[in-house]
Amino acid sequence: MARTRLVIDTDPGVDDAVAILLALASDELDVLALTTVAGNVGVDKTTLNARRLVDLAGRPDVVVARGCAAPLASDLDEAGDVHGLDGLGDIAWPEPRTPESDEHAVDLIARLAAEAPLTIAAIGPLTNLALLQARYPGVEARVERVVIMGGASFAGNVTAAAEFNVWADPEAAARVLAGPWPITLMPLDLTHQATLGDDDLEYLRGLDTEVGRRTAAILEPYAAFHDQWYGNRDVIMHDAMTIYELLVPDAIEKQGAHVVVETGGAHTRGATVIDRRRGFASSPTRVGVSLDNPAFVAFVRERLARYPLG
Ligand code: RIB
Ligand code: CA
Repeated sequence: MARTRLVIDTDPGVDDAVAILLALASDELDVLALTTVAGNVGVDKTTLNARRLVDLAGRPDVVVARGCAAPLASDLDEAGDVHGLDGLGDIAWPEPRTPESDEHAVDLIARLAAEAPLTIAAIGPLTNLALLQARYPGVEARVERVVIMGGASFAGNVTAAAEFNVWADPEAAARVLAGPWPITLMPLDLTHQATLGDDDLEYLRGLDTEVGRRTAAILEPYAAFHDQWYGNRDVIMHDAMTIYELLVPDAIEKQGAHVVVETGGAHTRGATVIDRRRGFASSPTRVGVSLDNPAFVAFVRERLARYPLG
């Protein structure tokens, strides 16, 4: 079966890290690059973290290319309280060996898309993708699909109305979601169903691998954040939904919808309005609805257990 040529556009980010490690453990995906963006933390830190994760996965073939340092039309505060001040749980990391590419993330994505059909998993603010559309008109025709973690039908997670990735750059999200490319959107409605518990962190620690130990270690403060905000330590695996969708296509129930982004609104800026009415059932934009979490957890355990002992 042909491997999926994939770029992961990311703001690592603890849940980004799990998504990236799942992707790099999976031969079905030809992960060509991690492209970084300001989001959970600034782009200096997200780029350093991407390099760290490529090292951890033992995948020096994966390119790390820096993207946008700020949203298109707003300022951005770091979410250090969620992912740690360094964006990766504030544990100690060795100096990464993986270099940072000289090529800007947007130019790299455009070049890869010009070479052959490309899939993009977007798991941070959508600034890089909106700039890609602006800088390379028509690029959407060369992108096979865009799988995005973002948005919500119900309450948000950074305000009562908005989910972080869309809230961080609403203008970018509005442009990307209106683009002429096949989009699969994984909103909070879905991602909140996908959690790992303390038993899973214990399983990871018991793998006797560097990936297992470090994944459990960065999830520990993330679990404490969840306990404080949601009343239990189950960690929500937002970004992993995009990789799960690419690897197990039938696992996530999806439906057609029309999605627009509120870019004004004194209290609703960054909200996604997801219209699921029957008239949009055949929309090319598909939205994740539900999944079986025990099956997801088994998938995560099996894939992360593929990394070598040591
Ligand atoms: O709202 C969750 C999203 O915001 C995830 O991608 C998380 O990493 C943060 O970027
Ligand atoms: Ca993210």
